[in-house]
Amino acid sequence: MVALESRICFIDGKRGRLLYQGYDIRDLAERSTFEEVAYLLWNGRLPKAPELSELSGRLKDRRALPPPLVEELDRAPPTAGPMDVVRTAVSSLAMFEPGETRADASAIAGAERLTAVLPSILGHLQRRRLGLPPLRPRPDLSHAAYLLYAILDRDPSELETRAMDVALILHADHELNASTFAARVTASTLSDLYSAVTSAIGTLKGPLHGGANERVLELLDEIGSPDRVEEVVHAKLARKERLMGFGHRVYKVEDPRAAILREWSRRIGEAKGNLRYYELLRRLEDVVHREKRLYPNVDLYSGSVYALFGIPADLFTPIFAASRITGWTAHVLEEYQDLRLIRPTARYIGAVDLPYLPIAQRN
Ligand code: SDX
Repeated sequence: MVALESRICFIDGKRGRLLYQGYDIRDLAERSTFEEVAYLLWNGRLPKAPELSELSGRLKDRRALPPPLVEELDRAPPTAGPMDVVRTAVSSLAMFEPGETRADASAIAGAERLTAVLPSILGHLQRRRLGLPPLRPRPDLSHAAYLLYAILDRDPSELETRAMDVALILHADHELNASTFAARVTASTLSDLYSAVTSAIGTLKGPLHGGANERVLELLDEIGSPDRVEEVVHAKLARKERLMGFGHRVYKVEDPRAAILREWSRRIGEAKGNLRYYELLRRLEDVVHREKRLYPNVDLYSGSVYALFGIPADLFTPIFAASRITGWTAHVLEEYQDLRLIRPTARYIGAVDLPYLPIAQRN
């Protein structure tokens, strides 16, 4: 079902190919950076050196949390889920920074601002939970390195930084996935970019969409060891339960992002001397493919990489949002350029022309 035309992302579900503005995700994961991919998604072309350096500088300059937002984040109940905190923070920013919420091409300022500030929101949330000192501005760190510093309160290694940079590239856009479509529907009414992103965050939270990566770790912890994979998979399938990290509405073969993240899960596992998750996941893949002919999607391996960094599982989906903010906002900007209200129709299957009975006669 084609909802609209777009130039931003091409998915070939039959051949397992993914392109951002015409560039293959495998080339971008191998040779690009998240900052460069953000520029590509927003502008439709790769940046020249000065353009990339200027964008990287603007993102670093716009990481700070405004004091009213810090007060609001510090009022959040400790039981508030991280995706609820992120959704609320983005919504509140629109109140504290109204200048950046016009529904036109100037919204790219809001796109850069949200991309820059999301790692600070995640970092503030995590530091508050652990009673760590507040974030320091770190203009010396790239976007991926800053995200890891903000959450882990330590400087990441080069290998960890590159792994996170690739993970951010891989999660940046994916055509009309549910959360991006929610953002486009919101923007198509001429609502502002912050409202569109708030719609998207609420949508990504769902376990059938962005929330799957967190549940993959729960599945691995439930399985425990490779010799229990068969038993647990059979029991879940017998109960008609969905196996998180597997299957996809568009890919009918392996999700190309899963293949790249599988390799990073192995590299980071080897570097940390801990291949437990990687070996469990490989066994899980074999059994699920044999039993259900299902392939892994982007959510299967991402959590194992983040867990090896020491990132708590309830921040995995917020990290997905910290990357997908670039795709969401690229689609919002495209919607503003070629505005058309998105209003599908439903095939009506209900009753017609029922007689209205006064309540006294309804038994
Ligand atoms: C993302 O859209 C995007 O691009 C999303 C995303 C992105 O980058 O934005 O790629 C990110 O959301 C990845 C998907 C993350 N979600 C999960 O890993 C949750 C588990 N996956 C499933 O819920 C499911 O695969 C979906 C929701 C992702 C897709 O499901 P579909 O296309 O609606 O397929 P379906 O529900 O019609 O199922 C078809 C058959 C059914 O069997 P039958 O009932 O016909 O016998 O396949 C089975 C399903 O039961 N099936 C699964 C399964 N996925 C499909 N059975 C067990 N486990 C699964 N994961």
